[in-house]
Amino acid sequence: MNRDSANMLDRFLSHLESVFFISLHDAQEIISNFHQEMRHGLAGGESSLKMIPSFVGRPKGTEKGKFLALDLGGTNIRVLAVELDGNGNATLAAVSKFVIPQEMMSGTGDKLFDFIVDCIQLFFKENNIGIQQAYDLAFTFSFPVEQGSIASGKLIGWTKGFTAAGVEGKDVVALLSEALKRKEIGFIHVAALANDTVGTLVAKSYADPYCDMGVILGTGTNACYPEKIAHILKCPGLGASEEMIVNIEWGGFSQLKTNIYDNVLDRASLNVGKQLLEKMVSGMYLGEIARLVIVEMMEQGLLFRGTSLSAFSKGYALTTEHLSMTAQGSGFFADFGLRDVSATDRQTIREICRIVSTRSAKLAGAAIAAVVAWMDAKLESDHTIAIDGSLFEKYPGFKGYMIDILNDLFGDRGARIKLDLAKDGSGIGAAIIGAVAAFNRRRMIT
Ligand code: BGC
Repeated sequence: MNRDSANMLDRFLSHLESVFFISLHDAQEIISNFHQEMRHGLAGGESSLKMIPSFVGRPKGTEKGKFLALDLGGTNIRVLAVELDGNGNATLAAVSKFVIPQEMMSGTGDKLFDFIVDCIQLFFKENNIGIQQAYDLAFTFSFPVEQGSIASGKLIGWTKGFTAAGVEGKDVVALLSEALKRKEIGFIHVAALANDTVGTLVAKSYADPYCDMGVILGTGTNACYPEKIAHILKCPGLGASEEMIVNIEWGGFSQLKTNIYDNVLDRASLNVGKQLLEKMVSGMYLGEIARLVIVEMMEQGLLFRGTSLSAFSKGYALTTEHLSMTAQGSGFFADFGLRDVSATDRQTIREICRIVSTRSAKLAGAAIAAVVAWMDAKLESDHTIAIDGSLFEKYPGFKGYMIDILNDLFGDRGARIKLDLAKDGSGIGAAIIGAVAAFNRRRMIT
């Protein structure tokens, strides 16, 4: 590479760094805008944060029994049997995982729910579970749902690439129950509906009383926290308990400085103008942001010179797993038919991945800071943040960048915030919610 090209490359990379940079001032601004949106959302005003009451509080740790959970996330369906010992211990007794085929995400709702029920049946077969009793099932549905009760809720709008027809605006528990009926499965009763963030918070707080936030950093992103019922002004009469977990739906947060790559991604997405924070943070989109940068650099002759653009021309061809591989030191080049990649190109790719993923981690850290500061402005208590999702679990350095921004924002007090992996939290948590719902139902019957 000659000197002029090297200078152009340097200039491009420093420009890239600056358009993706989150300064301390940006993070502080995010916190104050977040609080404003939370306030409006809780009051029922216009807000990019939906602030949805979940009809569940934090568990006591004494819930007991064996429960079924169904977890419909971004890319997989998991069916789980969870045993709760009543002493804060939850054990996975059986679990089966199924990939959701693309045609189920974009077909009809009936097809999707029939497929879900097929997965439940396969779970019973794979794990040799005999059907000698009726089962209460808790349904983790990882999409924005306006809940009407602990076991009902209407899908507000699909996210994460789902478009299945005939589901938006409908009660997803009713749709699941109808599919169970269609397949003549009478021994399963859907007892509870929960967002995955709520499941994650409930799972961790079953044993950890300091846990007061559930966060997902995976295909999509979102968070929940326990709010005082008196503060949920838009829903008077939510009951006698003091607090209820609120699903923030923070993926929709929109008071953000987007750059040209974010705007191009958004315009080509299935939900234009929606889920802006999710599109800058979550695993579904980071690969695509990096791909847009790579394509621009190739067009300007700054990367993979002499190579045809076609390998990178397909939307979403580059995934967050590819970025993660690069961060681990191995390249994704073979997947794109690239051989003999120069040391400069390898280094440039590493830089792009670092820049895109660092912004994601810092935005996630700033959003966590906003919610913690909302609950405890002076950070007087300890806070465990239960986090599930592959970005947090697997992306090298991701957690470190989140901690950096928390420390920048809170100084020494930042150490009071513990970011803890809650593996499989959403499914286990749903089972605990199912236990509470089943207990309340029995109490109402007797
Ligand atoms: C959904 C949330 C969900 C999050 C993480 C988002 O796309 O809107 O409900 O919690 O993904 O799975």
